[in-house]
Amino acid sequence: MAATELSLVKPISPMQKLNRPMLKFSTVRLLNPSQFRVMATATDTTNTSTTPKKKFSKTEIKESLLTPRFYTTDFDEMEQLFNTEINKNLNQAEFEALLNEFKTDYNQTHFVRNKEFKEAADKMQGPLRQIFVEFLERSCTAEFSGFLLYKELGRRLKKTNPVVAEIFSLMSRDEARHAGFLNKGLSDFNLALDLGFLTKARKYTFFKPKFIFYATYLSEKIGYWRYITIFRHLKANPEYQVYPIFKYFENWCQDENRHGDFFSALMKAQPQFLNDWKAKLWSRFFCLSVYVTMYLNDCQRTEFYEGIGLNTKEFDMHVIIETNRTTARIFPAVLDVENPEFKRKLDRMVEINEQLLAVGQSNDMPLVKNLKKIPLISALVSELIAAYLMPPIESGSVDLAEFEPQLVY
Ligand SMILES: [Fe+2]
Ligand SMILES: [Fe+2]
Repeated sequence: MAATELSLVKPISPMQKLNRPMLKFSTVRLLNPSQFRVMATATDTTNTSTTPKKKFSKTEIKESLLTPRFYTTDFDEMEQLFNTEINKNLNQAEFEALLNEFKTDYNQTHFVRNKEFKEAADKMQGPLRQIFVEFLERSCTAEFSGFLLYKELGRRLKKTNPVVAEIFSLMSRDEARHAGFLNKGLSDFNLALDLGFLTKARKYTFFKPKFIFYATYLSEKIGYWRYITIFRHLKANPEYQVYPIFKYFENWCQDENRHGDFFSALMKAQPQFLNDWKAKLWSRFFCLSVYVTMYLNDCQRTEFYEGIGLNTKEFDMHVIIETNRTTARIFPAVLDVENPEFKRKLDRMVEINEQLLAVGQSNDMPLVKNLKKIPLISALVSELIAAYLMPPIESGSVDLAEFEPQLVY
């Protein structure tokens, strides 16, 4: 999984985030790619003293890492879906080919650090440093979330479908590597995430398998487009290369692309999730949730994107359009994101979200705040509904035609 998440719509104040307690690194031991031991203590970032003040609490973790979520699903239903005796659509030959690709492990030796990292981190000061740390934290959490979900799926599907199970395990290897690399990046800033603690302390969002497929497919593909876009931009504009991690994005994003392709194969093996009117409604819903969440999140962090020489909104629209084009190959319907009205709606949502943040930060009493928020939340919801109801684009894979006799005339 990559640095994106699905969480409509919880405003987070950038100031609140910059002032929050952060974890202070003490030691990190990476035992093997799928196992982390991290020890950390908390200190206030506004205080430059190196003395640890207190152990972090669950609340502090929650506050500092609001949006990237951890997912869980109905593993029994997953087992049924991948039982070759029940599901005759499972193309085992395709999964075996994918497994061989994962076993090749193209990026086995890719994630090797050098001294440039620490030097670059030491040079980064002021607001960019803080927003950069937040980027690393959020990305690490998102990658780690993929690791946990895939690892569990690998474990649970072992008996019913060893090939699919092994692919999940190898994807969890990739995500562990990504999360570990980002966490190492945090160590350049004298910080670390306690991933073991995070595993236990964070709330898990439950999605039925069908929704896990939509959400995870989108998350992998949007992650691919985010990473490759940043990589290409920095290659063309090396003066913005503030930290060497971006140089790794080209091969890194190929992992995300492969993960997305695997979910694409999984969905093709479950045509009931792609070929009816409900599937079209859910596909559009998940596209909207993922795109809006990213747009609102990124617009609250323009300092980060501007710090690496990007225009936040242009970057996001590029990523949304490309992800949508890729997604249209598999989802039965997608949003018409290239219609200028879609961007206008996103921009209005950003404005409303900013007003919501301002209300949240005001000195009003909680009751007054809530009353002020009501019209704003309803305005946001109407924009979301209006965006959802825009005429969609019918799409989907031609391979599915054989499962859709009602569509063949
Ligand atoms: Fe990843
Ligand atoms: Fe991934």
